[in-house]
Amino acid sequence: MSSAFSYHIKDISLAPEGEKKIEWVKAHMPVLNRLKKIFEDDKPLKGYTVAMCLHLEAKTAFLARVIHSWGAKVVMCASNPLSTQDDVVAALVKKGISVFAIRGSSEQDYINYLHMVLDQEPDLLIDDGGDLTALLHGDRLEQAERIIGGCEETTTGIRRLCALEKEGLLKFPMIAVNNAQCKYLFDNRYGTGQSVWDAINSVTNLIVAGKTVVVIGYGWCGKGVALRAKGLGARVIVCEVDPIRANEALMDGYEVMKLSDAAPKGDYFITVTGNIGVIREEHYKKMKNGAILANAGHFDVEIDKNDLDKISVSKRIVKEGIEEYTLANGNKIYLLGEGRLVNLACGNGHPAEIMDMSFALQAMSIKFLVENKKIGPGVHPVPYEIDREVAKIRLQALGIEIDTMDRKQKDYMESW
Ligand code: ADE
Repeated sequence: MSSAFSYHIKDISLAPEGEKKIEWVKAHMPVLNRLKKIFEDDKPLKGYTVAMCLHLEAKTAFLARVIHSWGAKVVMCASNPLSTQDDVVAALVKKGISVFAIRGSSEQDYINYLHMVLDQEPDLLIDDGGDLTALLHGDRLEQAERIIGGCEETTTGIRRLCALEKEGLLKFPMIAVNNAQCKYLFDNRYGTGQSVWDAINSVTNLIVAGKTVVVIGYGWCGKGVALRAKGLGARVIVCEVDPIRANEALMDGYEVMKLSDAAPKGDYFITVTGNIGVIREEHYKKMKNGAILANAGHFDVEIDKNDLDKISVSKRIVKEGIEEYTLANGNKIYLLGEGRLVNLACGNGHPAEIMDMSFALQAMSIKFLVENKKIGPGVHPVPYEIDREVAKIRLQALGIEIDTMDRKQKDYMESW
């Protein structure tokens, strides 16, 4: 265990490039800028260490700086070995934030970095996908006692937290940031919708109009991916296991069918389910020559890479971000970003204005935890006042005014 300033990154001399990226996004994150300003003099997080396990790119860096400006010591590691931007983390280290992450690190190094962050004895966590929290309930259980609480960014992370809670094992309060309205309505839907296509299009440089896109999973992220595919001119097929969501997709104007029926029709297949083994051998064998596969779920488990390896006669990297698998029948299938979260493995993640809202919720939820230490272990919602405040600050920043109810209207709405 150590409290000295330490870090492990690729190259500190990359900092100037990273600094430029952070400056650009900072200029497009008005909510976080406003919150930074409001609380930086009071330093509400003074004396606390905040561990952040997130996608280490420019928007996240600005969140880290806000938390740092509120008085916290900040220690960071990646929530995905392929999403780290080495220049951005260099810029963070240069300004006093400890980071343990190198882009493309092995699975083992990825885990070692999580341990290095926990060696800094954090009081609070900001997690993305639940790996840091899981470690605190596994190999580092003895440390869970001292954790005040944390926040979780993703649908996948919250699923894992709820599973822990259900078994009575969750040791501290975790705020479900993903479930706040200012998160899922914007980040999951419009953020994922745009960033997934930004990444796919920049890495493939192919036309989407006139093609068939198969979106697998119709939660908030899947809705966004399908909507933007439609906007790009694709025919869209949705595959979904939930009958209510399947009806929703139908009424949103998409074809709905089983993946085994969609497999021979699709040019692009995008998984957004959070589940394992979604695209497998039986589907690969039915796909067209040239089919493109991308994953937009948190973990690289949705597109079964073992099955793909098993039925391929050869495999090669066509260019950075695209692997070509040649099947025994001669067909070629292209896998983007190793089947990891495509918008971060092959792109820069969600737009700055979107992460502005999600990260504002994170920062305010951490402050809430410090100010409300009595809330017990469990998965807790973001307080409604915080959700509403983030929405209000964003409208103010955009110069948009909205109507308010007068007394008579309020009374009416509360009457029975
Ligand atoms: N940038 C930082 N974190 C992100 C996330 N969880 N999703 C998309 N872009 C991000």
